Amino acid sequence: MLQGMFITIEGPDGAGKTSVLNKVLPIFSKELGDKLLITREPGGNKISEQVRNVILDRNNTDMDYRTEALLYAAARRQHLVETILPALKAGKLVLCDRYVDSSVAYQGAGREIGMPEVFNMNTFATQNIMPNKTIYFDVPAEVGLQRIAKYRDAKNVDRLDVETTAFHKRVNEGYKQIAARNPSRIIVIDATQPLNKVVDQTVEIVKKIAGNYFKEP
Ligand code: TMP
Repeated sequence: MLQGMFITIEGPDGAGKTSVLNKVLPIFSKELGDKLLITREPGGNKISEQVRNVILDRNNTDMDYRTEALLYAAARRQHLVETILPALKAGKLVLCDRYVDSSVAYQGAGREIGMPEVFNMNTFATQNIMPNKTIYFDVPAEVGLQRIAKYRDAKNVDRLDVETTAFHKRVNEGYKQIAARNPSRIIVIDATQPLNKVVDQTVEIVKKIAGNYFKEP
């Protein structure tokens, strides 16, 4: 039995997920302490972070798209079993930066493997464990890419960031389809707004979804 609450944060590159999570972490940590786990994909534990390095290494120019999809799913499996499920079993609120929707948008739509194929392949990794809710940071591909060019340190620009604008537009289209097909799970935030507004809305949405965690004992 999973007693916790599993919330994922999704969006294209440059949507500001990491900046927002860095701001909400101290706010939620203060209120929730060890009832909170903030984690990310690909990565989140030792094995999955090693897989992350292989996937995102800009020197790995020959990586096949299906290999890429399988590596994301492998990192996800390890992250789910070793990190997410124990936290959910312990009743924690898990906020995860990216999950299956990322693979469906990036590998399914962006790499054009096919969204259903990538989703189905991921069910092997997840055994159909999906988040209770997903917050989707919506930002046009051009805006996301401009933000990366402007703000991201050159050493943090990875193999997917340097993909073409056409790739990033397909990723955005993929996300829009996923959001349209899952209206009860996915909550959309306009991530073109200033950071403080996106932070405030994220806090508000999480508190609404996971209200029980924020009540006095
Ligand atoms: P990050 O920049 O949010 O840390 O994510 C790393 C990159 O990996 C980003 O470009 C999105 C990409 N990605 C996929 O292509 N598929 C996936 O399943 C995940 C989790 C991330």
